[in-house]
Amino acid sequence: MQKLIQWIDARLPIVEAYEKHMSKYYAPKNFNMWYFFGSLAMLVLVNQLVTGIWLTMSYNPSAEGAFASVEYIMRDVQWGWLLRYLHSTGASAFFVVVYLHMFRGIMYGSYQKPRELIWIFGMLIYLALMAEAFMGYLLPWGQMSYWGAQVIVNLFGAIPVIGDDLSLWIRGDYLISGITLNRFFALHVIALPIVLLGLVVLHLLALHEVGSNNPQGVDIKKVKDENGIPKDGIPFHPYYTVHDLLGVGVFLFIFCIVVFYFPEMGGLFLEKPNFEPANSLKTPEHIAPVWYFTPFYAMLRAVTVDLFGLPAKFWGVVVMGAAIAILFVLPWLDRSPVKSIRYKGWLSKIALAILVVSFVILGYLGVVPATPERTVAAQILTTLYFLYFILMPFYTRIEKTKPVPERVTG
Ligand code: HEM
Repeated sequence: MQKLIQWIDARLPIVEAYEKHMSKYYAPKNFNMWYFFGSLAMLVLVNQLVTGIWLTMSYNPSAEGAFASVEYIMRDVQWGWLLRYLHSTGASAFFVVVYLHMFRGIMYGSYQKPRELIWIFGMLIYLALMAEAFMGYLLPWGQMSYWGAQVIVNLFGAIPVIGDDLSLWIRGDYLISGITLNRFFALHVIALPIVLLGLVVLHLLALHEVGSNNPQGVDIKKVKDENGIPKDGIPFHPYYTVHDLLGVGVFLFIFCIVVFYFPEMGGLFLEKPNFEPANSLKTPEHIAPVWYFTPFYAMLRAVTVDLFGLPAKFWGVVVMGAAIAILFVLPWLDRSPVKSIRYKGWLSKIALAILVVSFVILGYLGVVPATPERTVAAQILTTLYFLYFILMPFYTRIEKTKPVPERVTG
């Protein structure tokens, strides 16, 4: 074994790579449960890739055969139901894990210097993940697949001048058809998974270049021992590989309960109209995207006025796009001298609480049908969401912060 490793190592530096990223990657010793979600995101990614490959073996990417092939997978393919539920539940689990992972980053200021690029790669992953989920959702060719895609692709039509041509180009047809299904299939199973994998590698390379942040935001590289090892750092392997196994255990326990007992999650993970085949002549009464898109969908619907000669729909698309775009510049909006929320002032704490509450309620409002009262609520909450970011350069500068300890204390 030793000889084999030496032979390979002389040709490909595997030992060096293992040491750099595992046994000699020193991570702060005070990681808490919020640090599980990065490795859990990788676990879910692997689950999606493996179950996706096996689903592809029995799935038929055509308007005539798609719906029936999913039924075939569910009823006739051995363990097909499990493959499908692992994949559909995995999609929702991916967003749960990624939203918690992003929240951790915001809470502990992990996007701040020198970790801006880790954050930017993370945001690109988030965008790619949304595209991946959107295209995957068309594949079962149910009523919600069809009409959800119709609504979202039509949004591009709201862009002045190029809009109509752009949505035609995306669909490849005058309406969502087998041609659209075919190209979404290609993008969902090949193009976007490659992009996602590439981005995750860049995300981790950028992380390992500067090192991890921690719940206190203490820079562990400031205090090193005589060998140049951070005094508050511990090797990733074995300490955090074992630590993360606890997270994996708890996650799999919850994940399996959902897969085996609540795979539809009351219509949240698999929506009811999607058990009916797509029908271009019958619009479902209430079209709603899957829960992970609903905060942005609520923002889109919150815009109801035509402005500067452009329709409300266009401004809705602008607001929705801006809600995601503003996250990209977060590292440059935060002017606080400290990273972690633990040492920031009460203004930051209240602002973060308002952000979370607004986002969650917007998510609810995007699931239920719009009423005049709900639209007003969505307008207020959308404003609050944006204020968190727009006012950040001010409240992070004027508030009184607590001193950050030199060394990790807990
Ligand atoms: C497929 C999706 C993703 C995977 C597999 C992934 C993986 C990871 C891993 C393994 C870590 C190190 C462990 C940890 O800190 O939890 C990490 C750290 C980080 N990730 Fe992600 N990530 C993903 C998406 C995102 C997204 C969407 C964002 C934000 C927009 C993000 C922002 C960060 C940040 C800021 C850190 C550094 C955290 C710190 O040092 O405190 N990641 N990621």
